[in-house]
Amino acid sequence: MKRLVPFARLNLTGCFTLSASLALAGCDSPTPARQEPSAAVSPAARSSAQRPGDGDSAAEHLDAMDKRKPVPLLPMMAHHQKQEMRDHLLAVQEIVAALSSDDFAGVEQAASRIGYSEREAQMCQHMGAAAPGFTEQALGFHKAADGISAAAKEKDRAKVLSALGATLKTCTSCHANWKQQVVSESKWQELSGQEPPSRPAHPMH
Ligand code: HEC
Repeated sequence: MKRLVPFARLNLTGCFTLSASLALAGCDSPTPARQEPSAAVSPAARSSAQRPGDGDSAAEHLDAMDKRKPVPLLPMMAHHQKQEMRDHLLAVQEIVAALSSDDFAGVEQAASRIGYSEREAQMCQHMGAAAPGFTEQALGFHKAADGISAAAKEKDRAKVLSALGATLKTCTSCHANWKQQVVSESKWQELSGQEPPSRPAHPMH
């Protein structure tokens, strides 16, 4: 088994130093795409990855590996979306904690944070403006979360769990389909056909 370790490291390093080619096949190929002989394994090569410009190709390499559809977003929108996402996970945490002590009011309160509202719907339209199909999936998620509140109102434990499961399925299926793609204002305008917001359209708090 020990022999496998250096082999795997070599392969990985080969993958990371593949700046010239974005071909995914490069990860499996034993032949480094670069000519520089030192690039394959040496620690010096690793620090050379911090040279200006290399960061871009590293990001491109990651992007090429990730075959999900892009959701083009301005930097501020991407940041806001991730804040929202982390709060969605927090809401799920609170739902589970409340349910474990049969605190149905607590379940309802936490579920209402991810439930459907006009404000949420507007935000989903905005986030999906340059990604046809994204908004529909987002709205489906908020509607599914309403099922958690409804079951909590009935104080039905099994129903809450099944609605939570259905909601989590909408989270995971969206994650399986989409990845963020941070774009410039002109690119976003071109893709969405909308004027870029001049200030945060949905300020947090
Ligand atoms: C309509 C699509 C959609 C739905 C529904 C959705 N997400 Fe996400 N989520 C995303 C996208 C897009 C990203 C960014 C993924 C990427 O670029 O890799 C993301 C990222 C995240 C992240 C990472 C945040 C970070 O800081 O990097 C978490 C956590 C997350 N989502 C939790 C959830 C949870 C929990 C749910 C359901 C309760 C949920 N999401 C529902 C689209 C969605």
